[in-house]
Amino acid sequence: MPGMDGQSEIERLLDEMERSLEQGLIPARIFNDPEIHRLELEWLFARAWVFVGHETEIPRPGDYCLRYIGQDPFIFVRDEAGSVRVLFNACRHRGVQVCRAERGNASHFRCVYHGWTYTNSGELVGIPAAEEAYRGFDKSAWGLLPAPHVASIHGLVFAALDPQAPPFEEFLGGMKWYLDLLFGLTEEGMEVIGEPHRWILEANWKIAADNFAGDDYHTLYLHKSMWDVNVFQVPARANMMGYHVQAGNGHTISFSMAPDPNEPGPTFWGYPPEIVARFRPDRVTPEQYELARRSRVSVGTIFPNLSFLTVPLTADPDRIPPTTFMTIRQWQPKGPDRMEIWSWALMWEGVSPEFRERSYQACMASFSPSGIFEQDDTVPWPLATRTAGTFFFGRRNEMLNYQMGLSTGTAQPVTDWPGPGVAYSPRYEEGVQRHFYRRWLEYMRAR
Ligand code: FES
Ligand SMILES: [Fe+2]
Repeated sequence: MPGMDGQSEIERLLDEMERSLEQGLIPARIFNDPEIHRLELEWLFARAWVFVGHETEIPRPGDYCLRYIGQDPFIFVRDEAGSVRVLFNACRHRGVQVCRAERGNASHFRCVYHGWTYTNSGELVGIPAAEEAYRGFDKSAWGLLPAPHVASIHGLVFAALDPQAPPFEEFLGGMKWYLDLLFGLTEEGMEVIGEPHRWILEANWKIAADNFAGDDYHTLYLHKSMWDVNVFQVPARANMMGYHVQAGNGHTISFSMAPDPNEPGPTFWGYPPEIVARFRPDRVTPEQYELARRSRVSVGTIFPNLSFLTVPLTADPDRIPPTTFMTIRQWQPKGPDRMEIWSWALMWEGVSPEFRERSYQACMASFSPSGIFEQDDTVPWPLATRTAGTFFFGRRNEMLNYQMGLSTGTAQPVTDWPGPGVAYSPRYEEGVQRHFYRRWLEYMRAR
């Protein structure tokens, strides 16, 4: 409701948050409010670059999957010429979805309503009774609408719906440097194993993006039982050593890393020699290669809603050694208090089928709907969302505490950090989350 000054209650809330964020205070309300959700779809998801899928999910011409940018449906498809396309999934006649299967292979998409037919590059090529109904009709003007911008990095495909969106490189900013060392160490790159798992959680999407942005602090308590049963070799408090990086533009990465570069323990995220032998130092700078070498765990969020995690874990330490996997996950907004989690497992192309299988098992056992870590994480996220929707707390604009590292904690800025952005060490700090929300505010207040 606009007030006397013409500002809505939510606009005032966002103005207030602009100030409170400096002090590490974030209004709980942003995590469960219908108006915030609507504005996010319009001002954030329809304007930012958003992850669509991995190129290896659609290897052959005609392969397609359905994907969502915010809540808008797109067909992620490889056309006959081999190009990756991101096409809005709606017939230009009356707007009916022309593709209704989750994935498959098709040279054409035919609308169920009146039968208009499009190629997998989006061209309108068939109209029933065209001679009688549409003589002289310019079919070329009525193809499926492509996303205005599509770009990829290391096989990860992103699209932007805003024609005025900045170039992808600019959007990524310093994050590119970190994605290179995470995804770019081999010639062949990474591929998706199987299909993404998807499930609904009654929680706001930002809570998950914020967790992966660098909430390592929760591992000490929420995941404590995992250390009790030995699923991860680095002790809980030692694992807090490392770096939080605000990579710029809301993107963040957190590295678990021993303070002493020569300390024994997992290097290259615990990948076995078979995999490490494939890494090529000349594909990155010596500084990037050294960070990759020292990494025990890397986790982070590519703003707004794609997160990644590489870590060596095992669900059965007595029988299976810890095995490294990489998962990427997208937190899809489905309402103020509801998201759909999409989770992919990735592996380096060309590794042995045995390691690939073991890595996939390690990923499924820890991060999947039935995964032991995932089951922990998905308990508090809905509870925090519920609080944000209450009248006593959420609607009174009570503040949540994001102050770790501001006036509390031991983290200090790193003066000789070799990469872009600002790094803090050790990982007892919440600057990464504040960095994420600062970017979120920029989008939400841009109007
Ligand atoms: S709505 Fe698609 S052909 Fe009419
Ligand atoms: Fe967690």
